[in-house]
Amino acid sequence: MNILVTGGAGYIGSHTCVALLEAGHSVVIADNLCNSKRESVEKIIDITKKEVTFFEVDVTDQEAVDVIFNHNNIDGVIHFAGMKAVGESVEIPLTYYYNNIVSTMVLAKACQKYGVNSFVFSSSATVYGDNAAPFVETMNLLPTTNPYGETKAMSERILSDIAKADSEFSVSILRYFNPVGAHESGLIGEAPNGIPNNLMPYVTQVAKGTLNKLRVFGSDYPTLDGSGVRDFIHVVDLAEGHVAALDNLKKGAHIYNLGTGQGTSVLELVKAFEEANGIEVHYEIVERRPGDIASCYADASKAERELGWTAKRDIFAMCRDAWKFEKNYKDLVEIK
Ligand code: NAD
Ligand code: WQD
Repeated sequence: MNILVTGGAGYIGSHTCVALLEAGHSVVIADNLCNSKRESVEKIIDITKKEVTFFEVDVTDQEAVDVIFNHNNIDGVIHFAGMKAVGESVEIPLTYYYNNIVSTMVLAKACQKYGVNSFVFSSSATVYGDNAAPFVETMNLLPTTNPYGETKAMSERILSDIAKADSEFSVSILRYFNPVGAHESGLIGEAPNGIPNNLMPYVTQVAKGTLNKLRVFGSDYPTLDGSGVRDFIHVVDLAEGHVAALDNLKKGAHIYNLGTGQGTSVLELVKAFEEANGIEVHYEIVERRPGDIASCYADASKAERELGWTAKRDIFAMCRDAWKFEKNYKDLVEIK
């Protein structure tokens, strides 16, 4: 299939482009590079030795999106493009609502206009709010504490309503847990701007010496060691989950958790990183971070049952590959 991958230059999108190309699909990327670099498109080509068509386009721009559909024989869409920083979404909610929801509507409209009925959407475990883990797709969604989470819940509803009204439309809504790690080549990975919000890039930057010390947020959660528990998933497993979702699309809207089904605590992750890479990570324990929940992990059985997909890579592979990318990325920056 010829897949339009919005946000394909970004962290999860770039790994998914590699997985799609390796599975024999072709890829058209639309990305406005607001949180990524063109260079990552070159890296996708380096890794796969395949061609990629790239459009530097804002996917909230209906005319620009129509031009892509008009000229590229698109068979399906994977919609990653979006803004994802939870804290920032509280500060600039309108930017988040506009970007994340309008993009979904513009793409759905183009799909209707050009008769494209295959759609895969990047959602997030954040839509479960503070339900109790393990999270199951059938749970009622609770309001999230931030506009980012609301944009995901609303986009899910919009796409589900379209599928209800149009019996030809197939959409898979993928709720990701905590994607970490990088492609084993070390060429693509997560490179956030500024000081990272997320745990793994913070850990790799402490290991590298760019940041002094990790602050572990909270030691009094009702978890095995008091630190928060998350379902970390290797980004390459996540990418392969998209190929499985695309290959198993069926009419209507279908929701899948993409996680490992296993919780790992923040302190366990730090220890695994140290063991996997033989490097110490300095940390201190501080207060809980407002808005965090104690435990977040998936019931991942539906994806296994219906998509034939499970995550294969363990926490050590996640830590090893995240570190490999961080070291390599530093080299790239120094060479420039
Ligand atoms: P990312 O920021 O690395 O990638 C998003 C890409 O979309 C970037 O390349 C950015 O330039 C592009 N983009 C944003 N708005 C755009 C627009 N209007 N038009 C064109 N391009 C645009 O983020 P990611 O971690 O790869 O996340 C991809 C998707 O997965 C997002 O929708 C995110 O909300 C979702 N998600 C991410 C996580 C996570 O922890 N990384 C977890 C759950 C869900
Ligand atoms: C993980 C754990 C922190 C940083 C976020 C979004 C979610 C999804 C994934 C997009 C928590 C702890 C973190 C640090 C720490 N993204 N931590 N020190 O909050 O589970 O999920 O990213 O959809 O929507 O909310 O991920 O990596 O920020 O935190 O102790 O410096 O690490 O408290 O327990 P989170 P995270």
